[in-house]
Amino acid sequence: MLTIVDLARMKNNQEKIAMVTAYDYPSAKQAEDAGIDLILVGDSLGMVVLGYTSTTEVTMDDMIHHAKAVRRGAKNTFVVVDMPFMSYHASLEQSINNVSRLFQETNAQAVKLEGASEETLTLTRRITDGGIPVVGHIGLTPQTVNVLGGYRVQGKDEETSKKLLEDAKRFEAAGAAALVLECIPKELGQVLTEAINIPTIGIGAGAACDGQVLVYHDLLQYGMEQFPKFVKNYANLNTAGTEGLKKYVSDVKEGQFPLDEHSYHIKNKDILPKI
Ligand code: KIV
Repeated sequence: MLTIVDLARMKNNQEKIAMVTAYDYPSAKQAEDAGIDLILVGDSLGMVVLGYTSTTEVTMDDMIHHAKAVRRGAKNTFVVVDMPFMSYHASLEQSINNVSRLFQETNAQAVKLEGASEETLTLTRRITDGGIPVVGHIGLTPQTVNVLGGYRVQGKDEETSKKLLEDAKRFEAAGAAALVLECIPKELGQVLTEAINIPTIGIGAGAACDGQVLVYHDLLQYGMEQFPKFVKNYANLNTAGTEGLKKYVSDVKEGQFPLDEHSYHIKNKDILPKI
């Protein structure tokens, strides 16, 4: 399994890092079998698996339940788990308790925190000192989408791009092991990647980032119908799944399933109960 030292080495060697989200046993197993470097149990769970309209409804219990399944499916892959909405914005003590619970119960390698606020950076310092690696997340931060005014590209002007550069440096100085950059211009993705020594993992942040992350359900078109510009579809599980299910329905209705090959047999029919 990779460690945060390997991630730093990969950045230094310009070896790209491939990350994908996973939320359950089979998706995690698939990701590990495919040779993915990092798995993110993202709170996008709320939208792509639980059918919520945003990530803000996801709870600590949801994250722990799904991250444990991911761990069982990918025993040898570095797993990062998202701290859910408002689970790290009460008192510092409460936030540390929540992080410790998530980290210990899921057996993850790191936790991800959104936004470079003072309280997030203080928490980053404290838990990193305590032995829990942190992945920061800046740019479009879905947990604060209501404050950002929607799912929009961030850092498009001088002031906001400068602020993102400061945020990236602040996360690095606080001890973060890596930084997710979401939905920012590719030119800014390059500047941020060159400005810090920890790996950047982009999602809609251009090719210069040290790594890339996509949401499993976007990448494989599973359940999702509409995709942001930054997504590339590598398969279509919607079509494959619906076609398979339609065929199953018609086979059942037409007596084409189950066939003899799907059935168990009894050798001596005399022992069957009489009606
Ligand atoms: O929750 C998530 O899937 C994420 C990625 C979009 C980076 O945070």
